[in-house]
Amino acid sequence: MTGTQEKKRVFIKTYGCQMNVYDSDRMTDALASDGYEATDSAENADLVLLNTCHIREKAAEKVYSELGRLRVMKEEAALKGRNVTIGVAGCVAQAEGQEIARRAPVVDLVVGPQSYQHLPQLLRDVAQGKRAVETEFAIAEKFDRLPAATRERTRARGVTAFLTIQEGCDKFCTFCVVPYTRGAEVSRPVDKIVEEAARLADAGVREVTLLGQNVNAWHGVGTDGREWGLGELLFRLAEIPGLDRLRYTTSHPRDMDDSLIAAHRDLPALMPYLHLPVQSGSDRILAAMNRKHKADDYLRLVDRIRAARTDIALSSDFIVGFPGETDADFEATMRLVETVGYAAAYSFKYSPRPGTPAAGHDDHVPDAVMSERLQRLQALILDQQTAFNHSKVGATMDILFEKAGRRAGQLMGRSPFLQAVLVDADAARIGSIGRVAIDRLGTNSLFGTLAEPASTSIQESNAVEVIS
Ligand code: 5AD
Ligand code: SF4
Repeated sequence: MTGTQEKKRVFIKTYGCQMNVYDSDRMTDALASDGYEATDSAENADLVLLNTCHIREKAAEKVYSELGRLRVMKEEAALKGRNVTIGVAGCVAQAEGQEIARRAPVVDLVVGPQSYQHLPQLLRDVAQGKRAVETEFAIAEKFDRLPAATRERTRARGVTAFLTIQEGCDKFCTFCVVPYTRGAEVSRPVDKIVEEAARLADAGVREVTLLGQNVNAWHGVGTDGREWGLGELLFRLAEIPGLDRLRYTTSHPRDMDDSLIAAHRDLPALMPYLHLPVQSGSDRILAAMNRKHKADDYLRLVDRIRAARTDIALSSDFIVGFPGETDADFEATMRLVETVGYAAAYSFKYSPRPGTPAAGHDDHVPDAVMSERLQRLQALILDQQTAFNHSKVGATMDILFEKAGRRAGQLMGRSPFLQAVLVDADAARIGSIGRVAIDRLGTNSLFGTLAEPASTSIQESNAVEVIS
């Protein structure tokens, strides 16, 4: 791209999980080196990319209806002599591949999650009138070849950031499409992760959430030549100046090893909030799901984690109505939720995913039964969530101020437990951590008051000294 050419504009619409959010940013970065600047509406764009999700029902259908709208937009632009390129990325692209190009002729480009490093080349192919479809699995290459964000772009994205350290999954839960769309488990090397985290911190990021489909299965050769797990990696990342807060998601109960639990005990930068999906409380269903553990294993694990870090807040995912789930199985899930006590949780009706083992079962649960179970489970979870949030009223907590709140003079920050907290404070505090007294619980957030006048400087709040 030469300086004399006019910039092209890209709009990326992101569906689904945090890894897609991270991937969309990396695509933006790759396209920036190719002369594209990001825009926030499809109407202004020369290139529209849908970064899609395939995890649950109708995801693909949503993409096709969005493509219908984009077809109209593309035709209207063409009447004005403007060419718009339409691309589908993400897990639907991976799962459907050529099928998308067949069903939706408006699509110029289909690119799976492991091939984003090829985007600039694929766009050149499209410019030459070709239809580009690329769904190869080359995760290691993806990370090596995608360019890093510039300091300016990282700054603009805010004080918290995602960082993918692991991608793909070898667990093959029988309901889940991820092993097919994201491929086998790949861990990124320590030096690449540390380098990316240091670059984020240097651009003002204060909190990094490490991402992976099975993030706690991450492993690699450490700086000491030994094999590291996620626990050791977290200790290393906590040494980076300016990185005050670390989180990770999503974990599998089978991969919570001793060193990771020790990190929760010994590492102040590791926030006391853990998303640890269990899916069901019934051993029969857990076995049918191929989760590789029993309900009691999970409960004992929770006890060990809580012994290491007494104030840790837990969240989870649940599926209701997995094929063959009886009333008794569902009651076991309710009992598990009552026993654990969650700060938050996500629950879904089972949704058959084409190509997964469970989709072929013939004992599917009727939708009305699923709806009723989901309602009961969500009511219980909401009670627990409200009780958890309420338990923090009257407490004083460290809040990382992320952005302006809804009202003028108000900031939105996050507690260590990932709660949104609204505080009257000066915008200059964005990016700093302040002590906040929690006054009351609103509908979606807590309200608090600054409990100390001076803003916490980067040096002060980075007082976490950890040697791995
Ligand atoms: N049906 C319903 N929920 C599912 N999830 C994954 N696959 C399915 C499916 N086929 C849920 C699981 C997982 C979360 C990301 O999505 O609870 O933890
Ligand atoms: Fe899917 Fe199970 Fe892998 Fe999670 S652990 S991504 S639910 S197969």
